[in-house]
Amino acid sequence: MTASGIPKETLAAAGRLLGRRLGLRFNPSIAGRLSRSLAEEAAALDLEIATYTRRIEDEPTLLQGLVDRVTVQETSFFRDPGQLQAFRTHVLPHLGPTVRIWSAACSNGQEPYTLAMILADSGVADWRVMATDVSTRAVERTRRARYSTKEVAGVPPHLRARYLRPSGADCEVVGALRERVSVRCHNLADSPPFKPGEFGVVFCRNVLIYLEDEAISALIDRLARWLGPPGWLFLGYSESLWQVTDAFALARLGSAFAYRLRDSTASAASALPSAASASPGSARRTPARPARRGNAESAPVLGGAPARSLVADGEAAMNAGDHAAAIVAFRKVAYLEPEEPFSHLHLGLALEASGDVAAARRAFAVARTVLARGDNLTVEASLKGYGVDDLLRLLDRKLAER
Ligand SMILES: C[S@@+](CC[C@H](N)C(=O)[O-])C[C@H]1O[C@@H](n2cnc3c(N)ncnc32)[C@H](O)[C@@H]1O
Repeated sequence: MTASGIPKETLAAAGRLLGRRLGLRFNPSIAGRLSRSLAEEAAALDLEIATYTRRIEDEPTLLQGLVDRVTVQETSFFRDPGQLQAFRTHVLPHLGPTVRIWSAACSNGQEPYTLAMILADSGVADWRVMATDVSTRAVERTRRARYSTKEVAGVPPHLRARYLRPSGADCEVVGALRERVSVRCHNLADSPPFKPGEFGVVFCRNVLIYLEDEAISALIDRLARWLGPPGWLFLGYSESLWQVTDAFALARLGSAFAYRLRDSTASAASALPSAASASPGSARRTPARPARRGNAESAPVLGGAPARSLVADGEAAMNAGDHAAAIVAFRKVAYLEPEEPFSHLHLGLALEASGDVAAARRAFAVARTVLARGDNLTVEASLKGYGVDDLLRLLDRKLAER
């Protein structure tokens, strides 16, 4: 029985269902959230847990209620500003007169409206953004386009003045932007909601971390077939296609990174002033997790609550591009959890992002030492499905880089 009074088998069955329908990964770190969501949704509908979990198999509206509760909408305006700046400087000028961008897994809309502000501000005449999410609540909020003053804090003042206007105690996105952002409900486990080739740039940030490996591979494969030229794919800072696909190549855009469809690398990448392509195998910027996963789910692998909250602080700082604050947080984590390889890996990644190559290298070396001397069974468990060998290979590559 879980703390919410759900039998373990019922919880596991609901987890499997979400895996089959949405590709969501079920593991101990999301069990608590799923358990609470099941209990709350059943109570809201005045149903017994057993009845509710049986009915969600066949009744999409009942399942949607659970999806709306269990998905995580963490996001912000201008999240990962370094990457957005790289998009603005290195990608946008080469997109031509017609720009179509898909914000996949857009959460409550801060990402698509951020892109809309960048596009409107760039002077491109013909631009559109499509915003999709599997959560109907998130889609509703995106359509409403209304945000608290705290939520819009990350919008630069000149863009705030131009593209947001007061609405009661809140702010709302101006109509001129909203009419160019189409919003719809879409599950990334299904085919993209547009004709193949219609969109050439997708922002699919901070959602792979919630998906099972097979769902990630299937999604990336679909994107490779659906995306038109120039085929840019932006992931979250800690997500990676390392060992996932050969269809996309990692491209350095100034100090940030994105993926690019290999078939269309010839045109825009060669036009990029400071872009350098690299194959995924030689990808030197690695995720906060060895492959694919990172930030939001990483805290639970670390032991105590203080470390978990520091990891969350560090990841928030990385997302905000504040490498100095991330380093401070991850240093504390490494102090609190010296035997946890991820503590040192996180620290290394933050140091690397800040440009302190020597210190990053030291942190990677410590991570490798800790990992190599660990009891592999224990370490394997703490990595939640990631092979020790994978992580060792990754650290070896990082250490061999320079
Ligand atoms: C952490 S938010 C990321 C928001 C935004 N992309 C960003 O980086 O700030 C993750 C979003 O993914 C959505 N999501 C999770 N699984 C999904 C799926 N199978 N299809 C579409 N969206 C999904 C969630 O509803 C949530 O809004």
